[in-house]
Amino acid sequence: MISCIVKTKIKVFLAFLIALVVSFGAYAQGESEQAEVSQKGVTPGATEGAAAAANTSGLPIDDQAVVTAGDALFKNNCAVCHSAGSDVIVGPGLAGINERRSHDWLIRWIKNSQALIQAGDPEAVAVYNEYNKQAMPSFNFTDEEITAILTYIASAEAEVAAVPTTVGSDGSQTPGEGVGTDAIGAVGGYLDIILVVLIVVLIVLVVTLLLITSLLKNYLNANRKLNEYDNEVVNQRFDFSKIYKSKAVRTLVVLIFVVVLLDLTLDTAMGIGIQQGYQPRQPIAFSHKLHAGEHQINCNYCHTTVYKSKSASIPSANICMNCHSQIQTESPEIQKIYRAIERNRPIEWVRVHNLPDLAYFNHSQHTQVGGIECQTCHGPIQEMDVVYQYSPLTMGWCIDCHRETPLNTEGNGYYDNLVELHEATSKGAFTVSSNGGTECYKCHY
Ligand code: HEC
Ligand code: HEC
Ligand code: HEC
Ligand code: HEC
Ligand code: HEC
Ligand code: HEC
Repeated sequence: MISCIVKTKIKVFLAFLIALVVSFGAYAQGESEQAEVSQKGVTPGATEGAAAAANTSGLPIDDQAVVTAGDALFKNNCAVCHSAGSDVIVGPGLAGINERRSHDWLIRWIKNSQALIQAGDPEAVAVYNEYNKQAMPSFNFTDEEITAILTYIASAEAEVAAVPTTVGSDGSQTPGEGVGTDAIGAVGGYLDIILVVLIVVLIVLVVTLLLITSLLKNYLNANRKLNEYDNEVVNQRFDFSKIYKSKAVRTLVVLIFVVVLLDLTLDTAMGIGIQQGYQPRQPIAFSHKLHAGEHQINCNYCHTTVYKSKSASIPSANICMNCHSQIQTESPEIQKIYRAIERNRPIEWVRVHNLPDLAYFNHSQHTQVGGIECQTCHGPIQEMDVVYQYSPLTMGWCIDCHRETPLNTEGNGYYDNLVELHEATSKGAFTVSSNGGTECYKCHY
C-alpha cells in the first residue's frame, strides 16, 4: 500500500521534472535559433567589391579636413533629400555618384541643375524625368565646397565598405547597425536564460520539499505508533486564525501600511511643480526621431539661438518651409504648416520645459561655454517621436551637476589665479560650484 503511494508520487515528480526540462530546452533552442538567424545576416563577401570601388575617383578622401567640411555641408544642405548610401529619400542615393558622373558635370548640376536640364544635357534630362521632374534647388557653392561634399560621399562609401554590412530582410543595407543591437540582444538573452534557470530551480526545490514532507507524513502515519504529541506535529494544519490573532503580526501590518502611506504623501508633496516625463500632444505630428535622428538635421538648424543666447528658441514655420515647400507637400500634417502661414499665425506648439520665473537658466552658458551636450539635460531627443521632459529640472538637479562638473579652465587666463587659490585650499577639482555656481544669486534674480 505505502510503496504504491510512494511509487505514484515519484512518477508524478519525474513527469514534472521531464516536462520542465523539455519546455526549458525548447525555450533555449528558440533563443539560439534567433541568434543564428541574426548572424547569418552578415555577408563578409559583400564588403570586398565595395572597397575596391570606393576610391577610383581621385578625390582626396584621406584628407580629414576636407571630409569633415564636406560632411557638414552635406548634412546641412543635401541630407534632407539624399543619403550618402543607396537609399532614395527625395532624390537618388549618392553612393557611387563620382563613378557615375564626371566631376565637371556634378559641379554644374549642383550649382544649377535646371540650367543643365534646359541646355538639354541628356544625363540631366534623364534623372530629372526619372525623379518625376522634381526640381533640385540650386546651390551657390564654390568648386572647392562641392568637391568637399563629393569627397565626403566617396569617403562615406569607403567607410561603409570597411564595416561589416548587415543585409535586412528586404535586401536593404544598414551599415554597422546590426552589430551593436545584436550584442545588446545577446546580453539580454543571457539574462533571460539565467532568470528562467533560477525560477526553474526554485520551483523544483519547492516541489521536492513538498513531496518529501508528504512522503514522510504518509510513512510516519502508516508505520509508527505515534503518541498524541507526535501525531499533532505530523498532522498539523496551517492555522490562519492564529496568525491573524497574533499581536506581532498585526503591529507589523499597521506599520507597513503607515510607512507606505507616508511615502506616497511625501512623493506627491515633493512632486508638486515637478513635471519629469511631461509629454504634451503637439498641434503637428512633428518628430525629432525623423528629423534629428534619421535625417540628422543639426539641433541648431531649428533651435537657432541655442549656442548664442539664453533661450534655445522654437523654429518658426518659415524654417519648416525651407524643406517642406518641396517635401511631403501633400501630407495633411504638412498642410497644417501652410495654413498657419496663410493665416499669418504662428504654430501653437505646447511648451514642454518650464522653469518657474524665479530661476534663471541660460543655454549658451551651458552649450557654448560649458560644452554640455543637449542630451545630457534633454535625453535622447533624436529618438523621440514626441518630446518629453527627461530631467527633473529641480534646484537639486542643477546644483548636483554644478558640484560634480569640473570647469574647463584650460587656456583661459581669467581662471589662472582662481584655480591656484582653489588648489591651495582644497583637494577636489575646480568645479562649477568652486567658481560660485551654487550661490543663490547666480540662479535667482
Ligand atoms: C529638396 C531636395 C534636394 C536637395 C536639398 C538636394 N537635392 Fe540633389 N536631387 C534632388 C532630386 C529630386 C534629384 C533627382 C533629379 C531631379 O529630379 O532633378 C537630385 C539629383 C541629384 C544628383 C544627380 C544624381 C544622379 O544620379 O545623377 C546629384 C549629384 C545631387 N542631386 C546632388 C546633391 C547635392 C550635393 C546636394 C546638396 C548640396 C543636393 N543634391 C541637394 C533633390 C535634392
Ligand atoms: C527640423 C527642426 C528641428 C530640429 C532639427 C530639432 N528640433 Fe527640437 N523642436 C522643434 C520643434 C518644432 C519643437 C516644438 C514641438 C515639439 O515640442 O515637438 C521642438 C522642441 C524641442 C524641445 C522641447 C522644447 C519645449 O517645449 O520645452 C527640445 C528640448 C528640443 N526640441 C531639443 C532638440 C534637440 C536636442 C535637437 C537636436 C538633437 C533638436 N531639438 C532638433 C524642431 C526641431
Ligand atoms: C532640413 C529639412 C527639414 C526641415 C527644416 C523640416 N523638415 Fe519635416 N521633414 C523633412 C524630411 C526629409 C521628412 C521626411 C520625408 C519622408 O521621409 O518622406 C520630413 C517629414 C516631416 C513630417 C512627416 C510628414 C508625413 O506625413 O510623413 C512632418 C509632420 C514634418 N516633417 C514637420 C516639420 C515641421 C513642423 C517642421 C518645422 C518645425 C519641419 N518638418 C522642418 C525635412 C525637414
Ligand atoms: C544644462 C542643461 C541643458 C542643456 C545642456 C541644454 N538644455 Fe535646453 N533646456 C534646459 C532647461 C533647464 C530648459 C527650460 C528653460 C526654461 O524654462 O526657461 C530648456 C529648454 C529648452 C527648449 C525650450 C525653449 C527654451 O529656450 O526655453 C529647447 C528648444 C531646448 N532647451 C533645446 C536645447 C538644445 C537644442 C540643446 C543643445 C544644443 C539644449 N537645449 C541644451 C536645459 C538644458
Ligand atoms: C549637466 C550639468 C549641468 C546642469 C544640469 C546645470 N548646469 Fe548650470 N552650469 C554647468 C556648467 C558646466 C557651468 C559652467 C559653464 C562655464 O562657465 O564653463 C554652468 C554654469 C551655470 C551658471 C553660471 C555660473 C557662474 O558661475 O557664472 C548658471 C547661472 C547656471 N549654470 C544655472 C543653472 C541652472 C538654473 C540649472 C538648472 C535648471 C543648471 N545650471 C543646470 C553645468 C550644469
Ligand atoms: C544652480 C542654480 C540654483 C542655485 C545656485 C540656487 N537655486 Fe534655488 N532654485 C533653482 C531652480 C532651477 C528652482 C526651481 C525649481 C524647483 O522649484 O525646484 C529653484 C527654486 C528655489 C526656491 C523655490 C522652491 C519651490 O519649491 O518653489 C527657493 C526658495 C530657492 N530656490 C532658494 C534658493 C536659495 C536660498 C539658494 C542659495 C542657497 C538657491 N536657491 C540656490 C536653482 C538654483
